[in-house]
Amino acid sequence: MSQSANHRKSIAIEKIRADFPILSKKVNGKPLVYFDNASTAQKPKLVIDAITNYYENQNANIHRGVHTLSQEITIAYENARVTVQKHLNAAHPHEIIFTKGTTESINLIASSFGKKFISKGDEIIVSEMEHHSNILPWQQVCEERGALLKVIPINDAGELIISDYKRLLNSKTKIVAITHLSNTLGTINPIEEIIALAHAQNIPVLVDGAQAVPHIRVDVQKLFADFYVFSGHKLFGPTGVGILYGKEKWLNELPPYQVGGGTIKTVTFEKTDFADLPLKFEAGTPHIEGGIGLAVAIDYINTIGLDAIAEYEHELLVYATEKLETIEGVKIIGTSKNKASVISFIVDGLHPFDIGTILDQLGIAVRTGHHCTQPLMQRFGIPGTIRASFAFYNTKEEIDIFLSGLEKAIKMLK
Ligand SMILES: Cc1ncc(COP(=O)(O)O)c(C=O)c1O
Repeated sequence: MSQSANHRKSIAIEKIRADFPILSKKVNGKPLVYFDNASTAQKPKLVIDAITNYYENQNANIHRGVHTLSQEITIAYENARVTVQKHLNAAHPHEIIFTKGTTESINLIASSFGKKFISKGDEIIVSEMEHHSNILPWQQVCEERGALLKVIPINDAGELIISDYKRLLNSKTKIVAITHLSNTLGTINPIEEIIALAHAQNIPVLVDGAQAVPHIRVDVQKLFADFYVFSGHKLFGPTGVGILYGKEKWLNELPPYQVGGGTIKTVTFEKTDFADLPLKFEAGTPHIEGGIGLAVAIDYINTIGLDAIAEYEHELLVYATEKLETIEGVKIIGTSKNKASVISFIVDGLHPFDIGTILDQLGIAVRTGHHCTQPLMQRFGIPGTIRASFAFYNTKEEIDIFLSGLEKAIKMLK
């Protein structure tokens, strides 16, 4: 389906909600209002059924058997890889590596890239708004190789300060690792510009797309991303599966991350010849049903259309932001002009945890705390926030329930 056809589609909300069994559940006696989508998204019945079907009808190991089940599931798994490739518009299926998730994908690149390309005195650039999963692996490489971690600062709206980024890039910079969309602030970063500036100095860029893929269309060739990573579970797919996209040229150059069954051409006790891409990076039996379930989730999202999703979620964002701003004592953290449907806020004099606990009693699931972005909390001088993050199955009615629950919580706690 063409992009413009998608754009004209609108969200058939009742039908969509019926696709997600958990949305009709009650929590603490109240209809569930699930606003913790940035942590993990709910799964449509199609994905749940695909996983059940795998165990009931398809279970066998891949890439290893001559028997029918093994061959059939190998084809299904490789087709899932092609679905991901097409979704990201990657040039080749073998540029798609299945991992456990975003965290493992980043660890893979940090470790392999670090071994091959980072040495004493080199520099790695991250930003002040990164998730711990896009800080710690680089911090570790820096410690191991004697390199330095450089940090792009943000302004009070929660936007990257691009002039400072330009100043940080230099001949010692070996890689830039940056989030596409902040899980705490909702900021959508100008990723094309960030990549172009790095490429002007021949520096590769890893993009943490964990939060971007559920909300916006990603075209890795258009972005010129060297590496793009995300998790299946935030994209309405299963937990335990994720993606590392890497340009063929880079993946060919990097050494394997983990080694073992599946990664080889020949093994003797003296020497191993490693397999070609993508198997070189996929040691051991993978999360087979995870890969298959993720492809089903991607197909499902594409039937709704990412442009329609982005448009609808923007409406939810604007609606919730305008109403939240009228509640006394509420301060939104992250006010970038270019934002996805993630709202973090604090309430004057109240602890986020206490508010989250009362909302939970009302059946409303929000996230409270530092959201694995402690340096970002330090930047704003706060211990944590309350975060409401919306998906395309959420509604304005749910936002009203959340806002009246919030007002109730504030009254109770003040
Ligand atoms: C921006 C970002 N990066 C990385 C991660 C880590 O993802 P996972 O726990 O699925 O590996 C998250 C999870 O919240 C995230 O939001």
